Amino acid sequence: KVYRASTFAPVNIAVIKYWGKRDAKLNLPTNSSLSVTLSQDDLRTHTTASCSPAYQSDSLLLNGASQDISGARTQACLRELRSLRKTLEDSDSSLSPLSTYPLEIVSQNNFPTAAGLASSAAGFAALVRAIANLYQLKSTPTELSRIARQGSGSACRSLFGGYVAWEMGKEEDGSDSVAYEVAPASHWPEMRAIILVASAEKKDVSSTSGMQATVKTSTLFNERITNTVPKRMEEMKKAIAERDFASFAALTTKDSNSFHATCLDTDPPIFYMNDTSRAAIAMVEAINANAGKTIAAYTFDAGPNAVVYYLAEHETSVLAPFKAILQAKDGWEGARGQSVTSSPL
Ligand code: DP6
Repeated sequence: KVYRASTFAPVNIAVIKYWGKRDAKLNLPTNSSLSVTLSQDDLRTHTTASCSPAYQSDSLLLNGASQDISGARTQACLRELRSLRKTLEDSDSSLSPLSTYPLEIVSQNNFPTAAGLASSAAGFAALVRAIANLYQLKSTPTELSRIARQGSGSACRSLFGGYVAWEMGKEEDGSDSVAYEVAPASHWPEMRAIILVASAEKKDVSSTSGMQATVKTSTLFNERITNTVPKRMEEMKKAIAERDFASFAALTTKDSNSFHATCLDTDPPIFYMNDTSRAAIAMVEAINANAGKTIAAYTFDAGPNAVVYYLAEHETSVLAPFKAILQAKDGWEGARGQSVTSSPL
């Protein structure tokens, strides 16, 4: 007999960035972060988890290719989920002992993996929720976020739609380092995002190793985590509560630049943005200057692709100039979007 469950998880793009770990084993961050979840019609991971006494061993297939699941992060997620299932089985003898069966996990991304398009976020969120569904766990999204965080930090934010905060937490065991919804997508439904793909190639320096090098060597980094980010988290929550796009945009672009500044301040320096990325920044600046107010905000993760946030009413003014440069193919491979934020999951 085979037991099976499937789920989708969307990508999220941080507007206050997670960069730095205070505990690499438990994946605990040095600062809180805040993100917007993109529509899962556009960028998402679909995962089916199944288990059976007939399976030989745990396995994971991503986009048709077999993956190594012996890594500590995947193992931590599987261990936690199995132990929650075991607790259920111990309290109810009518339940089948699924926690003892090997798992088969089959995932499909509809976008390039590890290209700075937050694939690990959607990937681990989908993996954790698919298994939680298979095991019929009663856990809340916040409880599951504690598990997904151990797979990939940013994954804990992909268990929610809308506007999501990941609180860094204080506890050494990471029990309070979880995500929660700041506002549902319906609170600010006019929000749009477009991803401008400068390169769909795998990034040079992974987020994991990049942030660890920054923590070790950047002096700017300390200022970022002690003063800059804690203040910005509060300002960002207020901007979202008040649907104040100008403040949302200013905080988003400043925080992206602050994160990339700490990358440049890392020894040896890390460059995630390239000339194409910088052209996108110039374009957003020009769009805002032309409008006479802030109608677009850019942000970059650990790669050269730009994500531009804007409101539906400004779609033409924001997208037309980008369509023009995308057609000129000047370093750009294409665009994904105009992804609206997804409804609460
Ligand atoms: C720049 O979540 O990929 O996208 O926890 O090591 O898996 P690990 O890192 P990851 O880092 C994401 C970094 C970022 C900013 C963000 O999403 O907040």
